[in-house]
Amino acid sequence: MKFFVDTADLDEIREANAMGVLDGVTTNPSLMKKVSEKAGRPVDFHEHIYAICELVDGDVSAEVTATDFDGMMREGRTLAAIHDNVVVKVPLILEGIKAIKALKAEGIRVNCTLCFSPTQALIAAKAGAAYISPFLGRVDDIASDGLRLLEQIVTIYANYGFETEVLAASLRHPMHIVEAAMMGVHVSTMPFDVIKKLLDHPLTDIGLERFLADWEKYQASMQAEVA
Ligand code: E4P
Repeated sequence: MKFFVDTADLDEIREANAMGVLDGVTTNPSLMKKVSEKAGRPVDFHEHIYAICELVDGDVSAEVTATDFDGMMREGRTLAAIHDNVVVKVPLILEGIKAIKALKAEGIRVNCTLCFSPTQALIAAKAGAAYISPFLGRVDDIASDGLRLLEQIVTIYANYGFETEVLAASLRHPMHIVEAAMMGVHVSTMPFDVIKKLLDHPLTDIGLERFLADWEKYQASMQAEVA
C-alpha cells in the first residue's frame, strides 16, 4: 500500500518524507488555506505545489477550483504543467467526469475527489480517473459507514478490472488504515499525525524501557566485576 500524506504544510511533508516511507502527497483548497494562515501571508498556490513536488518523489495531487468543464480543463492543464509529479484533482460532479475523460485524453492524470458512493466511484473509473478518493472519515461523520463504502468500491473495481487506483482519503485513525490494507487498497492518504500514530504501541515503549534498564544494570555489573 502506498502512503500519501494529506497536507500542504512543507515542514510536515519534509518530516514525513524523512521517514523514507512516503509515496506522495494530497492537497486540497482547505489545506492551502491552512498554509497561508500559518505563513501569515498569501502563499502562491502554483509555486507551493512546485515546492512540494521538488520535495517528494511521487504523485502530488493539486485540486482545481473551477466547477465548469472549460474552467476545469484550463486549471487542470496549468496545474499539470507545473511538474511531472502533479496529478490533477477534480471533484466528482458531472462536469468533473467530462473533464476526467478529456484530461486523460491529453495525457493528464486525474485524482477524482469527494467520492461518497459506489456509483460515483464506478462512473469515475469508467471516465478513466487515475485515482478515486472516497472520503471515509466524512462518511463516518454523518453516522454512515466509510469502510463499507471502501469495500464496495474495491469489490466493484476488482469485478471489472478497472485500472483506477483506490486512494482511501479522509482517514482519521490507524484502524482506518488497517482495514484499508486488509482490503488491499492501493493508497492511503492521511494527516502526518495519523502516520506517526501507526507506529505507536505501549508494549514497544515498555519493552524498550525494560531492555535499556536491564542493559544499564548489566553494564554496571560488568564494571563491578572488572573493579
Ligand atoms: C483527500 O485527498 C482529502 O484532502 C482529505 O483526505 C480530506 O480529509 P478531511 O475529511 O480530513 O478533510
